[in-house]
Amino acid sequence: MYGLTTAAALVATAGYVLAAPSALVPRKTFQVSQIAKGKVFINGPTQVVKTHQKYAKLGATVPSDAAAAAAAVQSGSVAANPEQYDESYLCPVSVGGQTLNLDFDTGSADLWVFSTVTPSSESTGHARYNPSTSGTLKSGYKWNISYGDGSGASGTVYADKVVVGGVTATSQAVEAATSVSAQFTQDTNNDGLLGLAFSSINTVTPQQQTTFFDTVKPTLAKPLFAVDLKKGTAGSYQFGYIDSSKYTGSITYTSVSTANGFWQFTAGGYSVGTSTTTSGSISGASIADTGTTLLYLPDAVVTAYYAKVSGAKYDSTQGGYTFPSSSTLPNFNVNIGGTVFTVPGSYIKFAPVSSTTYFGGIQSSAGIGFNIFGDIFLKAVYAIFDESQSTPRLGFAKQS
Ligand SMILES: *[C@@H]1O[C@H](CO)[C@@H](O)[C@H](O)[C@H]1NC(C)=O
Repeated sequence: MYGLTTAAALVATAGYVLAAPSALVPRKTFQVSQIAKGKVFINGPTQVVKTHQKYAKLGATVPSDAAAAAAAVQSGSVAANPEQYDESYLCPVSVGGQTLNLDFDTGSADLWVFSTVTPSSESTGHARYNPSTSGTLKSGYKWNISYGDGSGASGTVYADKVVVGGVTATSQAVEAATSVSAQFTQDTNNDGLLGLAFSSINTVTPQQQTTFFDTVKPTLAKPLFAVDLKKGTAGSYQFGYIDSSKYTGSITYTSVSTANGFWQFTAGGYSVGTSTTTSGSISGASIADTGTTLLYLPDAVVTAYYAKVSGAKYDSTQGGYTFPSSSTLPNFNVNIGGTVFTVPGSYIKFAPVSSTTYFGGIQSSAGIGFNIFGDIFLKAVYAIFDESQSTPRLGFAKQS
């Protein structure tokens, strides 16, 4: 639910991200049910180094480029476990040797955690990072972040080892919270965030820090990560490789602007219902944001969508479009890079806000400054966040 950092003062903080459901949809305890599993690769460069080491006794030296390349073979996969109604997805991460469940957020660039330095009144029930075991304080460094839903956190900074699905950052900036807003305190499933936007919007001062992805990028088999979110069940993130079993057909790539620090792209036309012949266009810039629950689109698109939902209306009390529980929702089809992707209507029937009413998974992006392709959209695709080309790009394919 967090997503889209506002630290760079880019967007209004109009409480747009799930304002109604986070207040009205009760959260229940969610137990992590899957263990992260690393992926084992046959390791070419390591073999090269071993070979040279073996012969070093005989006077051979290890070529430094081969030694560097030997590190560049990490890759791995980590589970992404949904909270109730898929409000956010949490992934187990080892931070300084301790496992925390973090919300992976492509809309922000700070890795921050509940910690032993967080007041107990704000952190009871959370797993806490203990920097005293292996952390090194970055003296004088601070951070402070605000998210689009009005939540925020701030604190101090350590360097420590972080492991995600078997991919290791030996020295990662770990931002330990000394203060968190009530939204974070209350969600005891969530022990912090792991930002995957561009490091240009990291909030650490006096010197910005790199995201986990930027830290490990030179060591990954490929400089990319892939996201496979699912409705109501565990999905996963892959770092350093694309899992071809997770999609069908081909991957369509679209170029990314990093100007605002987000995975920003341009969406094309759209249609509502069974016809995938799209028309019109989705105006404005769009971002792919795993940390935002819903799909936020221009008013004209939202109006056209709910015109096809019987009983739908904008409900100012709930802060968004709602409709009767009995309504069947149409699909939403969107053209990105020349390929039409379909979000099933069942995904857009997001969550009950009363015994008779549902809150919609598509809502207005007016006032945000971007359209946000959050989890409602991402659940329908396998998404590749790719820096293997001269400019970053996003790839989308149909989930298998
Ligand atoms: C963090 O930023 C918020 C909003 O700008 C501000 O209200 C708060 O005082 C700041 N906290 C710290 C510890 O600097």
